[in-house]
Amino acid sequence: MCGIVGGIAQRDVVPILMEGLRRLEYRGYDSAGLAVVNDQKIFRKRALGKVSALQALIDQDPIGGALGIAHTRWATHGKPSTDNAHPHVSNDSVAVVHNGIIENHDQLRTSLKENGYRFTSETDTEVIVHKIHDQLEKNPNLLTAVQKAVSSLDGAYALGVVNKDQPDTLVACRKGSPLVIGVGIGEYFIASDIAALLPVTQRFIFLEEGDIAELKTDSLVIYDSNQNVVDRPIKESQLRADAVEKGQYRHYMLKEIYEQPWAITQTLEGRFVDNRLQDNAFGHNAAEVFDNIKAVQILACGTSYHAGMVAKYWLEKYARVPCNIDVASEFRYRRPVIAEGTLVVTISQSGETADTLAALLEAKKMGVKYALTICNAPESSLVRESDLVLMTRAGPEIGVASTKAFTTQLVSLLMLVIAVGRRFELSEEIERQISSELFTLPGNLEKVLKLDEQIQRLSEQFAEKHNALFLGRGTQYPIAMEGALKLKEISYIHAEAYPAGELKHGPLALIDAEMPVITVAPNNTLLEKLKSNMQEVSARGGQLIVFMDESLEADEAENLQIIKVPKVANVISPIVYTVPLQLLSYHVAVLKGTDVDQPRNLAKSVTVE
Ligand code: G6P
Repeated sequence: MCGIVGGIAQRDVVPILMEGLRRLEYRGYDSAGLAVVNDQKIFRKRALGKVSALQALIDQDPIGGALGIAHTRWATHGKPSTDNAHPHVSNDSVAVVHNGIIENHDQLRTSLKENGYRFTSETDTEVIVHKIHDQLEKNPNLLTAVQKAVSSLDGAYALGVVNKDQPDTLVACRKGSPLVIGVGIGEYFIASDIAALLPVTQRFIFLEEGDIAELKTDSLVIYDSNQNVVDRPIKESQLRADAVEKGQYRHYMLKEIYEQPWAITQTLEGRFVDNRLQDNAFGHNAAEVFDNIKAVQILACGTSYHAGMVAKYWLEKYARVPCNIDVASEFRYRRPVIAEGTLVVTISQSGETADTLAALLEAKKMGVKYALTICNAPESSLVRESDLVLMTRAGPEIGVASTKAFTTQLVSLLMLVIAVGRRFELSEEIERQISSELFTLPGNLEKVLKLDEQIQRLSEQFAEKHNALFLGRGTQYPIAMEGALKLKEISYIHAEAYPAGELKHGPLALIDAEMPVITVAPNNTLLEKLKSNMQEVSARGGQLIVFMDESLEADEAENLQIIKVPKVANVISPIVYTVPLQLLSYHVAVLKGTDVDQPRNLAKSVTVE
């Protein structure tokens, strides 16, 4: 939620910050802004909308400087507008970019107003910049002013701060929102995500909770929350700068859909020996933890929650492991009961989702001893807060609608089923079968991707639709939910998913000749039941679109269209059937002309509650 980038160098940082913003745009795209310090003045440009609008402003009237900060916003406090765009400035002398939410902003605003500060935005952020200015009036040192100012803030923040009178200093800090420092030669940068800085460095320092850093061209000093100087290690990233570029694809989402066979290969790589999953794939002490597990509690949001739902079916069906799942934002406030010996599993692409993180912390407060995260972002907050970690290794996912992160989460969760399940009722034979099936996935997904053109033709029927229903049963129910979510997110068509057996309890009332009903129907034990549910739809004139196993005999009819999907084992079918639904929503969105990679009102990494 919001991306920040900043730098201090011996060259003009504006092109670097602008490239950084483009790479962070997935975090929000309501407005963008940039400020540089030059000639003891702050020069600021802000634009409503995307980074390209800011670039146009800078092209018309260039600014430059060796010290600067920049921001791309996802609105929380205050509508998207130029006035609410960051950086915020106090008295033409201090500028701040902020990611997070300040909870006591009302109270701080009142006292700052009493002290004569004039507010020009509706944001919570503006209190920070005035607060820092207020401190600078007492002591003209930016680092000290920031240290003092943040001590009065409640809530979450990652900040980049510059002061016109200290053109050699950039101050950055984090609490509850991610921030990394990029280490160059005679230059330092800050960003919400390493992806922003890959064109300038591969070397990163991950700030810890409460850290404040003072960056100059020739020095970097980091203080912890007790104001002690601390040494944080420099880590080398293996990611290449072009890993976050679109390449030959029209959209990131399409690129990421096509990357899935590769991504799943990465997820599996090196984690099996002789077709047997190694416990230590989850961390060096995983075996000991798994030996003590009595149940699993899954916590996640959005697409990751759907992956968790599939895992619940798998854990109980194949291994008889008791499993609960909660939407993280509900769990954190509903006072759940957690049995002793429960492994809490968080699932998250970003590792920074505020609700998921808070739910994990809540679980720990409740005395949970074991926490595992399935995550795509190394060094993220969830990774740090968890005892065990299984990285999904999908590579950076830029499209806001999650695709490869989801399928690699499912693969990882099936690995969890094996690891925990063999301590329960998962036999070695079934374990070996599941393991072999996992290795067929990259090849099977290559085959499914060949359905692209057929699905593109199918998508033409959706361009004028306002509603759609998705049906599935068993593990395909969460896949239907994920299909509906994808369609909603990027094409703005209202879509609902139901377990097909529920149709008769209400949603059947919606069926008429205008309603497309997308059914995920692999050839499993529930197929006959699903067929009856489909009859209920066709008897009422609904338009059925059925994704089914290629080995099944079925004839298309006036209101029945069939897409045949390669035959795969039941256990991996949720992963395989996900891909045609991703392609469907992608093509519908392209036809509708929506912003596929950056759908309205959404952001990829939701670091606020
Ligand atoms: C946002 C994204 C979704 C994502 C959800 C959870 O809403 O737009 O795509 O599924 O957050 O994110 P996480 O990073 O925790 O998986």
